[in-house]
Amino acid sequence: MSTSNAPNLQQQLKQRVAQAALKYLRDDMVLGVGTGSTVGCFIDALPSWPGRIRAAVSSSEASSCLLRALDIEVIDLNSVATLELYVDGADEATRDRYLIKGGGAALTREKIIAAAANQFVCMIDESKLVTKLGRFPLPIEVIPMARAQVARRVATFGGRAVWRESVLTDNGNQILDVHGLQIDNPVQLESELNQIIGVVSVGLFARRPADVLLLASSSGIQTL
Ligand code: 5RP
Repeated sequence: MSTSNAPNLQQQLKQRVAQAALKYLRDDMVLGVGTGSTVGCFIDALPSWPGRIRAAVSSSEASSCLLRALDIEVIDLNSVATLELYVDGADEATRDRYLIKGGGAALTREKIIAAAANQFVCMIDESKLVTKLGRFPLPIEVIPMARAQVARRVATFGGRAVWRESVLTDNGNQILDVHGLQIDNPVQLESELNQIIGVVSVGLFARRPADVLLLASSSGIQTL
């Protein structure tokens, strides 16, 4: 009984946290949009928001499709001078608003948009809140020819890299999911992993954490 109810509750929490993120929208803004099922709930909720979204910058082909289906124009980040807001989900988050992202393989574009945005609002349900990052394997996007070499380098950090074989990113690259890392200092580890030749980006969002973490639980929405 409880197992069959669990997905429904998580889905409800995603819908509630997505609804809570609407309050960060401003009329006529260009909006940065992430990727994933929580973002899917956020996009689904956009028509209920009374204002107008001038255009969106999207972190994946999947989100672009959902946005265009609502007649929201998707534009190139290069044509945007100021991006006020970026809304996305995460695979894991701490109360310091450090994140692991990339479960949906969109980490590089997500990181680019997060870096460009004045405000990054991240939506999670309580199952993703941790005291220390790393239970969720850390996604790393790699240039395909460097995959094995990066995996060997990652092993020197104590991680076991597993190639996500079925996935090619929107950028034509591959994903390694790194298990078993001790992430005691997320900012430092992000910098060090970024230095490995062949790494395109690392799913640790610590140097640029979320500005606002919206946390949905059965007792309501908390803003961190
Ligand atoms: C995609 C991501 C997503 O934000 C993350 O995987 C969370 O997804 P979901 O909302 O489906 O749980 O980083 O690359």
